[in-house]
Amino acid sequence: MQKLVVLSGAGMSAESGIITFRDMGGIWEQYDVTKVASPQAWEETPQLVMDFYNQRRKQLFECKPNKGHELLSQLEDTYDISIITQNVDDLHERAGSSKVLHLHGELKKARSTSDPSLIYTLDNWELKLGDLCEKGSQLRPHIVWFGESVPAMYDAENIMQEADIVLIIGTSLSVYPAAGLIHSAPGSAHIYVIDPGTPAFTPSKNITFIQKIASEGLEELINKLKN
Ligand code: APR
Repeated sequence: MQKLVVLSGAGMSAESGIITFRDMGGIWEQYDVTKVASPQAWEETPQLVMDFYNQRRKQLFECKPNKGHELLSQLEDTYDISIITQNVDDLHERAGSSKVLHLHGELKKARSTSDPSLIYTLDNWELKLGDLCEKGSQLRPHIVWFGESVPAMYDAENIMQEADIVLIIGTSLSVYPAAGLIHSAPGSAHIYVIDPGTPAFTPSKNITFIQKIASEGLEELINKLKN
């Protein structure tokens, strides 16, 4: 089976009703990222950080995977497909994808502030100050904040290096190191970029740009790959 590697971003979940970060009206137009998604913000205003993630988690419990997530899950019949996602939602998994690597953490999980190996799945949307891990320290969102390292990058690079085909779906490729992953793909891999916005880089002989939303772009691509 050919290895198909997906790098997905917020645009992948847009059709599920989850707003992106940098489109018009996006999350970073409404919030100052340094005030809600950084270790300093957690230090200085932990309740503001908790509220920010509780609001997004509450919405996630009300959302469901879209057609694009489902099409990717169905591709497992034809390809050895690995999904590397910048998204913190669980929509790829809920659509049935079995190999999903989260670069920026997972909204439905919390981790200990004293022992990062202690990670808990939340069964409801609210995480509160005073919610403690088994060692008695405060739980924090299991999210990679700006300025924190991306522990999953090593595995992500190894996955990308094996790709025969790369799909880049719904990401502005504006945040590193995630955006640099595309350079780990072998020169022999064909790269397809699906995004209704303007291309983040110029198409070339091994880069095809499909200027559509995720579900429509994937439908077009799957038909192309079949023929
Ligand atoms: N289908 C596909 N792509 C879409 C859709 C859609 N329906 N709607 C918007 N897009 C595209 C936009 O054109 C844009 O290129 O999705 C991309 C979203 O870009 P960002 O909002 O920057 O999201 P992302 O690239 O995932 O951000 C990366 O930045 O803030 C951090 O940690 C956060 O993981 C996030 C990272």
